[in-house]
Amino acid sequence: MAGRICVCVVVTLFASLYSCDESLRFASYYGDHMVLQKAPERAVLWGYGPEGAQVTVSLSGQTQHKTPPVNVTKGIWRVTLDPVEAGGPYNVTAALQQSTVTLTDVLFGDIWLCGGQSNMAFATSQVFNASEELALAVKYPQVRIFMAAMTLNETELTDLVQVEVPWSVPTASASPGDLIHFSAVCWLFGRYMYDKLKYPIGLVESCWGGTPVEAWSSSRALQQCGLEALENGPHNNSILWNAMIHPLLNMTLKGAIWYQGESNAAYHQEEYNCSFPAMIDDWRMAFHQGSGGQTASDFPFGFVQLSTYKKGSTDEGFPNIRWHQTADTGFVPNPRMKRTFMAVAMDLPDEKSPYGTIHPRDKQDVAYRLTLGARAVAYNEKNVSFLGPFPSQILIAQVYLNITYDQTVSVTSSEDIFEICCSEVPAPCGPQSLWVPAPIMQWGPTTVQVSTSMCQPTDKVAALRYAWKDWPCDFKACPVYSGTGVLPAPPFKINRWPGDT
Ligand SMILES: *[C@@H]1O[C@H](CO)[C@@H](O)[C@H](O)[C@H]1NC(C)=O
Ligand SMILES: *[C@@H]1O[C@H](CO)[C@@H](O)[C@H](O)[C@H]1NC(C)=O
Ligand SMILES: *[C@@H]1O[C@H](CO)[C@@H](O)[C@H](O)[C@H]1NC(C)=O
Ligand SMILES: *[C@@H]1O[C@H](CO)[C@@H](O)[C@H](O)[C@H]1NC(C)=O
Ligand SMILES: *[C@@H]1O[C@H](CO)[C@@H](O)[C@H](O)[C@H]1NC(C)=O
Ligand SMILES: *[C@@H]1O[C@H](CO)[C@@H](O)[C@H](O)[C@H]1NC(C)=O
Ligand SMILES: *[C@@H]1O[C@H](CO)[C@@H](O)[C@H](O)[C@H]1NC(C)=O
Ligand SMILES: *[C@@H]1O[C@H](CO)[C@@H](O)[C@H](O)[C@H]1NC(C)=O
Ligand SMILES: *[C@@H]1O[C@H](CO)[C@@H](O)[C@H](O)[C@H]1NC(C)=O
Repeated sequence: MAGRICVCVVVTLFASLYSCDESLRFASYYGDHMVLQKAPERAVLWGYGPEGAQVTVSLSGQTQHKTPPVNVTKGIWRVTLDPVEAGGPYNVTAALQQSTVTLTDVLFGDIWLCGGQSNMAFATSQVFNASEELALAVKYPQVRIFMAAMTLNETELTDLVQVEVPWSVPTASASPGDLIHFSAVCWLFGRYMYDKLKYPIGLVESCWGGTPVEAWSSSRALQQCGLEALENGPHNNSILWNAMIHPLLNMTLKGAIWYQGESNAAYHQEEYNCSFPAMIDDWRMAFHQGSGGQTASDFPFGFVQLSTYKKGSTDEGFPNIRWHQTADTGFVPNPRMKRTFMAVAMDLPDEKSPYGTIHPRDKQDVAYRLTLGARAVAYNEKNVSFLGPFPSQILIAQVYLNITYDQTVSVTSSEDIFEICCSEVPAPCGPQSLWVPAPIMQWGPTTVQVSTSMCQPTDKVAALRYAWKDWPCDFKACPVYSGTGVLPAPPFKINRWPGDT
């Protein structure tokens, strides 16, 4: 005993008081009102305590259990609970011989991490119908929120330096549980999932506006794409991974949703088809390892495909990022991006957004489309339509081409949403090639016929693309939707001759 106190005094003299704090406590992101991951996974809990002491964690509520004692090593203890079915409330108590700390009103359910830049940070108070959405909060006491504070660091941190919103039962106004500043996409996703699942949902927001994917990626992930050593100025690699993601790795999660990419339209855009999938892989590996195998090594990862920014612009930054978000395939899941799901959002522009056109206010449709993907991919619900129509076959005739979709389509006419690339020789088309409009001529239940007459008769149709514009259509008025009119066809680019980028 005396020896330990002596060591502590010495440490206090040379380091911060923080590192010498021997009191028993939980890590920053465990708190009253929290949600812990339900069975079949096991929740991981950790915290701080006096070196060498033994900590026991017990759960009291509908079911009770007590973990075997664990030793505090380097000031940290860590336990893995037995699996607990969805529900609550529970009290979770960590105990030493003489002291205890208790988390009250703890629920078990699914934890979703919400990450990205400003469109994920976009607050519930900023969306269309915000007051109605906020007023609904009281009806969802089992959807709990937590927000990490915006901090950065040059090294990987063990715990969050700061918490913006501690675990809270959301309310429309009173702090700290207020939804006003909480992510709208995250909240609405959680609420809609609760409507479906009817058990607790824990939402963890960790995002920062204007940030590129590199900031959220570990050096391991960046190395995969040759981005690790680049001089990066204000866009410093890994600084948010270090401070806002790495500390969370030990918490057991169900999955993650993500809304980011705008910042990469003009920064390492060409590498995004590598950097984004690499970040997903790396997060999966790291959360699996950090939770001692509890978080799935292929946990479901949903994301929002970029919406719109500049009406009338011919800049291909947004179309290219949309394509790269799918690892250049046009849809997810795909072999490179397994167990992912995507909400197409290019048909939800908001020309009058007071937060700038880059921040459309309709987050309800975005979140709803994400929940369709989550139901199919994360919860294996059969028979949920979550993919918009995608071409399965293209037939090229004399003056037209026929696109056959993989499902029934609902079509409206357009002169220029489809474009073709004309080439004198059979060669792949690139960004510099000549693209001309291919007006829609007619359509059937699963087919669309477009004209190729804009190509010279001596030219070949070398490629076809759809919705390849920053702002391809008006609100919910793209020309091709699923048969029920709910899901927009995602943008695509198909080369007749392989070899193109
Ligand atoms: C949790 O602890 C509080 C305060 O000690 C107590 O009032 C409550 O009944 C406990 N709840 C459960 C589920 O054990
Ligand atoms: C915990 O510490 C005790 C001695 O303080 C030791 O006997 C025991 O082996 C340790 N347990 C583990 C799992 O390291
Ligand atoms: C990085 O984290 C360490 C340890 O928490 C802290 O001392 C340091 O101030 C942090 N750096 C920045 C830039 O916040
Ligand atoms: C970013 O990196 C540069 C040098 O690589 C460094 O000088 C600067 O302090 C870093 N900025 C932040 C915000 O960490
Ligand atoms: C990614 O896109 C670039 C062009 O933007 C292309 O050169 C490269 O081959 C693509 N890489 C992968 C892995 O698809
Ligand atoms: C969290 O997980 C990482 C990776 O497994 C591990 O290095 C770290 O020690 C863990 N932190 C705590 C507090 O258990
Ligand atoms: C806002 O509320 C109106 C009236 O209920 C509804 O028609 C509209 O779809 C809502 N907007 C969004 C984005 O949910
Ligand atoms: C599957 O979905 C289709 C179309 O929405 C519907 O007609 C059918 O009844 C559904 N089948 C089941 C088993 O739910
Ligand atoms: C293309 O589609 C039209 C109807 O949409 C059909 O009349 C025509 O036969 C099709 N052409 C080919 C080559 O399949």
